[in-house]
Amino acid sequence: MPQFTTITFIFLTLCTATIAKLDHSSSSSSSSSSSSSTKKYTYVCDASRYASLGLNVSSFSFCDASLTYEERAKDLVKRMVLHEKVRQLGNGAYGVPRLGLPKYEWWSEALHGVSNVGPGTFFDHFVPGATSFPTVILMAAAFNESLWKSIGQAVSTEARAMYNLRRAGLTFWSPNINVVRDPRWGRALETPGEDPFVVGRYAVNYVRGLQDVEGADHRRTADPNQRPLKVSSCCKHYAAYDVDDWLGVDRLHFDARVRQQDMEETFLRPFEMCVKDGDVSSVMCSYNRVDGIPTCADPNLLKDTIRGEWDLHGYIVSDCDSIQVMVDDHKFLDDTNEDAVARTLKAGLDLDCGVYYTNFTAGAVAAGKVREREIDTSLKYLYIVLMRLGFFDGSPEFKSLGKDDICTKANIELATQAAKEGIVLLKNNRTLPLSPHQARNIAVVGPHANATEAMIGNYAGVPCRYTAPIDGFSRYGVVTYKEGCGDIACKNESFIFPAMKAAKRADATVILAGLDLSVEAEGLDRTDLVLPGYQTQFINQVAEVAKGPVVLVILSAGGVDISFAKENPNIGGILWAGYPGEEGGRAIADVVFGHYNPGGRLPLTWHKANYVDMLPMTSMPLRPVPSLGYPGRTYKFFNGSVVYPFGYGLSYTRFNYSLSTAKRFVDLKVENLDYCRDLSYNHNTKRPPCPATSIDDLDCRHDIDFEVEVTNTGHRDGSDVVLVYSKPPHGILGTHIKQLIGFERVFVRKQSSQKVHFKINVCKGLEIVDYAANHVLPSGGHSIVIGDDVVSFPFQVNFS
Ligand SMILES: *[C@@H]1O[C@H](CO)[C@@H](O)[C@H](O)[C@H]1NC(C)=O
Ligand SMILES: *[C@@H]1O[C@H](CO)[C@@H](O)[C@H](O)[C@H]1NC(C)=O
Ligand SMILES: *[C@@H]1O[C@H](CO)[C@@H](O)[C@H](O)[C@H]1NC(C)=O
Ligand SMILES: *[C@@H]1O[C@H](CO)[C@@H](O)[C@H](O)[C@H]1NC(C)=O
Ligand SMILES: *[C@@H]1O[C@H](CO)[C@@H](O)[C@H](O)[C@H]1NC(C)=O
Ligand SMILES: *[C@@H]1O[C@H](CO)[C@@H](O)[C@H](O)[C@H]1NC(C)=O
Ligand SMILES: *[C@@H]1O[C@H](CO)[C@@H](O)[C@H](O)[C@H]1NC(C)=O
Ligand SMILES: *[C@@H]1O[C@H](CO)[C@@H](O)[C@H](O)[C@H]1NC(C)=O
Repeated sequence: MPQFTTITFIFLTLCTATIAKLDHSSSSSSSSSSSSSTKKYTYVCDASRYASLGLNVSSFSFCDASLTYEERAKDLVKRMVLHEKVRQLGNGAYGVPRLGLPKYEWWSEALHGVSNVGPGTFFDHFVPGATSFPTVILMAAAFNESLWKSIGQAVSTEARAMYNLRRAGLTFWSPNINVVRDPRWGRALETPGEDPFVVGRYAVNYVRGLQDVEGADHRRTADPNQRPLKVSSCCKHYAAYDVDDWLGVDRLHFDARVRQQDMEETFLRPFEMCVKDGDVSSVMCSYNRVDGIPTCADPNLLKDTIRGEWDLHGYIVSDCDSIQVMVDDHKFLDDTNEDAVARTLKAGLDLDCGVYYTNFTAGAVAAGKVREREIDTSLKYLYIVLMRLGFFDGSPEFKSLGKDDICTKANIELATQAAKEGIVLLKNNRTLPLSPHQARNIAVVGPHANATEAMIGNYAGVPCRYTAPIDGFSRYGVVTYKEGCGDIACKNESFIFPAMKAAKRADATVILAGLDLSVEAEGLDRTDLVLPGYQTQFINQVAEVAKGPVVLVILSAGGVDISFAKENPNIGGILWAGYPGEEGGRAIADVVFGHYNPGGRLPLTWHKANYVDMLPMTSMPLRPVPSLGYPGRTYKFFNGSVVYPFGYGLSYTRFNYSLSTAKRFVDLKVENLDYCRDLSYNHNTKRPPCPATSIDDLDCRHDIDFEVEVTNTGHRDGSDVVLVYSKPPHGILGTHIKQLIGFERVFVRKQSSQKVHFKINVCKGLEIVDYAANHVLPSGGHSIVIGDDVVSFPFQVNFS
């Protein structure tokens, strides 16, 4: 998304017209007579609005606040005729004037700040921009759950303010929580990386930040459909979506062949966490097929899993024009347009981003392909979400938000803080941080030295402002700027020499290189893992002649094989800064000069360049495929050597861990030993009498409870990320090497310690997903490993 922007552009106009009408009809709320931009927003069930429409609000029970949202939504839907109903099923919902129901544009985006990608949100002279936080891949690298939530809160405050100012909707189709299965994926920048657990925790925190109304969390009654929403969030793209366009294989035609084991363990897990733990109010299905079936047409994926098993409180939406893609590109079952809309409605797809539902549902009902009742059910889900958002009754708690709440100093600071927390120190050969006293003249060179738009990536809005790297470094010394390359493609060598000359004279040289949306983007996967064009040559030549220390800063989402720089003694320090958002230049300079001590960790593996020669991007299995010679994917299943592993990241100080555990075993009762499940073991391993049991059959209230004492043994304050992994008992075949089961970022002053307490459910922490996709707990000696095997302890599981 967005694929067919021309279609949806029409709705922008419609939507704006609606809001204007809504506003016009409200006499009580437009107290300000100045610019129309400052008029207050109103809500559907405003009695005076109804009066001005010549209607009596008391006669519509969907406006009766004493009823539940469910009862009210039911009443509203009952009053509509089929022809009216189908016009509410597209992202540009037409409303029903006869009932006083206004139009609504469902499509807005807020991936890392309020974005104008969807037609529901726009910027103009009155609201020229919103805070553009770092791209998600860099925020993920901070491994700081409270940061993720704070950013969600800041974004939803700006979104609400823009809604009040009639420049945004209330339903935001963010975040993107697809796992980065392959290092070539073009949309890695939008996501929290390759680990399903981290991706899921990011989703839960960001969604709660966007959706939760502070103080209302505990008002959550027996009926979660009554719970208020600040804005509505959406976890996408469900599921197994992570091929965009790789050597001619594109997402609109791709059929992901996925083992159920991988589905459970990797592809569905973040979505399950998003729905169950984040209580997200929407899920978006993807363009691709999974095992032959377009995801938006699969009742097992939608109705049975999201709605049934996970109990979604909200609506399911299609990726934009997915139904058309089903018919025209996948040519699924040779469906007619009517067959396709009937199929997706029955599968549980409630809202169509596009016009297929609007255009073809009435025909599908008339032809007997789908019952009107299916439409009613979907509409109810949609209206309950709008009611929870205050669209019908107003939201007094957000009424006062306005222009002053957008691009605030605090939010711009938070964007800077997020970038600093995410930046990863990859190499430091006694070079960093630079001292401002010794490095007065700084050569800042490379294709990203004056990065602006590149720093905000995609699904961005218009930022409040930019602090480019050259601006950031100017705060510390006198900057000489040379591009080094004409652009990221770096096809013209003639820019290199001027950069070398600058490096030759400067006290210190900072090289900013990497990738941008011309290399990795939506609809564009990579074909290699190296720097484009002459970038490598440029970096080596500058480093060769530089007078002072040389620091390389890589801007990218996916990993880059920079082994050459890692090994080059002329390059003293390397940082990865993702795409760091509007204040990226300030964050990078603050880290380079030691104003902030970096503590970020890589949220995905940086593979060697030859990794992509070993397996095609279209192969979905996470485990190695020995018959085809394919290696495994992600740190969980790839055992070869890498440039930098998942979780890697240095600091300007040193940390040491010590452990205290209460209990290092658990005895679990198995009702009947017949319930034991077998596992495959290598021939050296003695098979235990009861290899494993299904998690569902266990009383799993036990925790792995321990404390890690983090000691800062160095001479600078700093933050450390404590990563906790579990490793299954030796000898079990076909399972992960290790899996992340907990993490915590902790700030520790120099020469002091902090204790971090972990309490991880035994089943959640030690489970494996077996070949038949069962979640099982193996018996025997597991291990709990902290960080890169810094400390570990055994944990024994016994069944009796
Ligand atoms: C509006 O409807 C209610 C309930 O149907 C009725 O009691 C009331 O008199 C009506 N008001 C007007 C102004 O018609
Ligand atoms: C985590 O992020 C919050 C910002 O929300 C920040 O205040 C805190 O210092 C961060 N924690 C660490 C250990 O860096
Ligand atoms: C949907 O209907 C509208 C209005 O009749 C029409 O303009 C549009 O071309 C139709 N789109 C498709 C894909 O059928
Ligand atoms: C840096 O980029 C901005 C925006 O593209 C541009 O306006 C500015 O002139 C550039 N600065 C230099 C020194 O080239
Ligand atoms: C390379 O860049 C230089 C300086 O801008 C320009 O004069 C030259 O024509 C470019 N060469 C090519 C092959 O594009
Ligand atoms: C680190 O610096 C030392 C001293 O300059 C040098 O000998 C060594 O090769 C460097 N190591 C790397 C990996 O750059
Ligand atoms: C890595 O995995 C492959 C495939 O499963 C296996 O053949 C190889 O022995 C493993 N290598 C190491 C170093 O464990
Ligand atoms: C780090 O901790 C381990 C055990 O917790 C201890 O043996 C070691 O001496 C410590 N190292 C430093 C540098 O403090």
